[in-house]
Order: sequence, then C-alpha cells, then structure tokens
Amino acid sequence: MNTYLGIDIGTSAVKVLLVSGDGTVLDSRSASYGTDSPQALWNEQNPSIWWHSTLTCFDALRERNETLWQHVAAIGLSGQMHGAVCLDSNQEPVYPAILWNDGRAHKESADLNRLCPDIGYRAGVPAMPGFTAPKLLWLHDNEPDIFARIDKIILPKDYVRLMLTGACCTDVSDAAGTLWLNEAARDWDDDLLSACHLTRDHMPTLIEGNQISGSLLPDIAKRLMLSTDVIVAGGAGDASAGGIGIGAVNEGDAFLSLGTSGQIFVAKAQHSANPQGYIHAFAHALPDRWCHMACLLNGASPLLWFSSITSMSIEQLLGEAEATDDLHRPVFFMPYLNGERTPHNNPFATGSFEGLTAHTSRNHMTQAILEGIAFSFRDCLLALENANTHLSSLGAIGGGVKNDYWLQMLADVLNLVIHKYDGAETGPALGAARLAILSHTTHSIDTVCPSPAIERTFTPNAKRHQLYAEKHTKFTALFTALAPTYG
Ligand code: XUL
Repeated sequence: MNTYLGIDIGTSAVKVLLVSGDGTVLDSRSASYGTDSPQALWNEQNPSIWWHSTLTCFDALRERNETLWQHVAAIGLSGQMHGAVCLDSNQEPVYPAILWNDGRAHKESADLNRLCPDIGYRAGVPAMPGFTAPKLLWLHDNEPDIFARIDKIILPKDYVRLMLTGACCTDVSDAAGTLWLNEAARDWDDDLLSACHLTRDHMPTLIEGNQISGSLLPDIAKRLMLSTDVIVAGGAGDASAGGIGIGAVNEGDAFLSLGTSGQIFVAKAQHSANPQGYIHAFAHALPDRWCHMACLLNGASPLLWFSSITSMSIEQLLGEAEATDDLHRPVFFMPYLNGERTPHNNPFATGSFEGLTAHTSRNHMTQAILEGIAFSFRDCLLALENANTHLSSLGAIGGGVKNDYWLQMLADVLNLVIHKYDGAETGPALGAARLAILSHTTHSIDTVCPSPAIERTFTPNAKRHQLYAEKHTKFTALFTALAPTYG
C-alpha cells in the first residue's frame, strides 16, 4: 500500500500529513515558528526555518509510523503565497523571505499599476503591496546590490522543494500570486517581468500542481530514510491547496478559509478577471481551472492578538463572548491590524474599537472582534458579487472554523449556508497530499478530490441576518470615516 505526504508551509507553522492511497489522514505533525517584523509594515522569515521545521515533522512522523513511512511514494507541497524568496546563483537566499503580509512595497505597487495599466486583466488582479512583483521593484530601488545578485525568485513552498529535489520549480497557482503570470495563458508574462527589471531566466520552471517536479536528492533520501524514487508533485499555493483538500475543484465550488489570513475562494472553469473590487482571478492548481478569490490579510489573526494581550486562551474568549452574545450592543471592531487587501487595498489601514463605554467588558470586545472579521468577509462576498460570482453555500476550512458560535455568526452575517467538513482544520496540507496522489497515479481528479463528509451545517437565521446587515452598514460608515486617518 502506497502512502503520501502533504506539507503546508504556513505563516506560523509547517504542517505535514501522512495519508493513505485513498487520501485518508493517517497521522500529522506540525512545528511552529515566528515572523520577524524589523520595521512597521515589514514581515519576514528566514527560509531555513521552513526546511528545518519540515525535517522535524518528518522525523517525528517516521518514528511513529515506521512501516507506513517505508511506503511513501510521493510528496505534495502547499504554502503561504506571494513570499519573495530570492536566490543567488548558488541557490542561497540573498535576503530574508518577504512575506504575503508585508506592506513595504506600497509605492512600488502603485508604480506597477501605472506602468502596466492592464495588469489587473493579465495577472488577474491589480498590484497590491503583499504580492511578489512589487517587492522585487522595492529591492531593485532600495537594495540594488542585493537585487543584482538575484538569479532566481521562488515561492516559500518551492524553497522546501529545492531542498528536497534540487529542482527550481513552481506550480501555476503559486506563480499566479507573483503577478508575473499571465493567468489566461498559464505562462510567465514577459511584459510584467520586464516592468520589474526581470526576465524569464529569473523564473523557476512552471508546471501544473498535479505534475511531477522531481524526485528526492540522494543525500536527502538517505537522511529521510526514503527511496530516491519518491517524487515531489508541483503542489499549490495554500489557497488553491485548501480548495483541493475540500473538493472545490469544479465550477462554482466555494469555500471560506479562516486561518491567519482569510479567503472566500470559488473554483472557475474559465479565467475571467474583474480587477475593480480586488478579486484575485488566479489559476487554480489543476489544468484548465481557475478561481475567483477575495482575500483578507486579517483572518483569525486579530483574535490571536486579543488572546495574547488579554492573556486569555482563544477558547476562553470565545466561550465568554458566546455566553453574553447580544446583537444590539453597538461595539465595533475594525480588524485591519495588518492593513487590508480585498476590497480596500490599503496597507495603512489599522485596527480600532468603536462604541466603548464604561460598561464595555472583555467579552463584548471579543464579540466585536468576531463580528468585525465576519463583516470583512461580507465585504469580500459583496466584491465577489460585483465580479458576477454568486454563491448559495460555502464550505469552511482553517483553524478558525473549530468554533460553532463563530461559524453560525458567519452564516448569519453572510446569509449563506456554511458546511463544516470532517477534518476542516487539515486544510491545505490535505490538498498537497491529494496533488501528490494525482501526480503518482492515474486516478481521476474527481476520485481523488471529493468533498469530505459534512460534520455540521450552519443555516442563516433571517432575523439575525437583518440585524447584522444593519450593523454592517454602520461598520462600512466607520471605515469610510476612518479611512482618511490611515497612513
Ligand atoms: C492568498 C494569501 C494567503 C497567504 C497566507 O492570496 O495571501 O493565503 O498565502 O496564507
């Protein structure tokens, strides 16, 4: 019996799943790490922490599953998107990886939109600071010596591939997040590269997520106690990998992801860009499939922030907020601790509470945080509707969907049925493992990528939706009033 590994290089941790040939999760391990923020708006990581954390997970899985480990046939990769991993000609990083939530390249992102007015159509969305392309313009303008040493630019998960196989390669769904991919053609766009002083030679080899990128290097195979026949699939950016894990592979399949970041993702049979609302019209990780994606830089992360400053566990915070839940309480939270992408494209947006009184308590503030994030998802839904993407139900994945109170709130705010699937927290790592299975077998996409069984369905409550819609109008008015104070 063959087994497979799915790796997700997340923002706060790497997660590795060991799965059977039919995609059943047999075991999993994760190892966490931090982010360096040396200046306001900056977020960086050293690529070596991804590799060492992956090895830690591998070792732990091998020790616990000796026999299953011997049958590993293929590895799939998923990872945080948009990170710039710049390598010199010896394939060594020349600079820390600049992450998806780094806002330093705001000027360069505006420059790129001016230089390439049709970028939103070619690359699927206008430039925003977190994407890879503006970051390279930033390096060009601010670190010319570093820029001159760059030989190749890869994405975070591709660094782990490089360590495993020696191949400098990426898949189309992660390439999409660079803004150098022509989405319709699923190929590098020479004009967009040239606008960043780059050429195709700086780009990794491009493949589909279910194709084979290489096999294990002899030294690595020995270190991992695996055969050099073990192949590594193209894999996917974490958003697309999440889609593959939850079975969102056919036109209209949609899900909401609530991790550090947040997305509403809808699979598409054709590419169609609609740049106005900052919907990401990207390539999906499977051939001839695309997606529409609305992306929040602030998913569950504001709740994590509140947990750390109050020294309360997230479970405690959620429990006390649910116990005193009251939709009429006029306390608001603007969740923009990290700026925001869809629909605002504003790296300078900040977070704030509004409506506090002498009677406001911690649980009221937690409720406002949960609502503020849910209202951001409503902004995403409205942006998708403006891009002609209409939904009637959503799957839910990510660490944030463990809590039923929050999921019911999201169903009420969005006025959509939300299905929580079995293993919803496994997310992108399962998609990565499924891509490994597809790369190693002749099984069909529909056989390997079904939706998991539904654990619970959340149906919107009309009365609560009406109250939330009124609150969302006030939330929007607050954003409009506060926007001139940002940055
Ligand atoms: C997608 C996005 C996030 C990051 C981090 O556009 O920015 O999914 O990949 O998870």
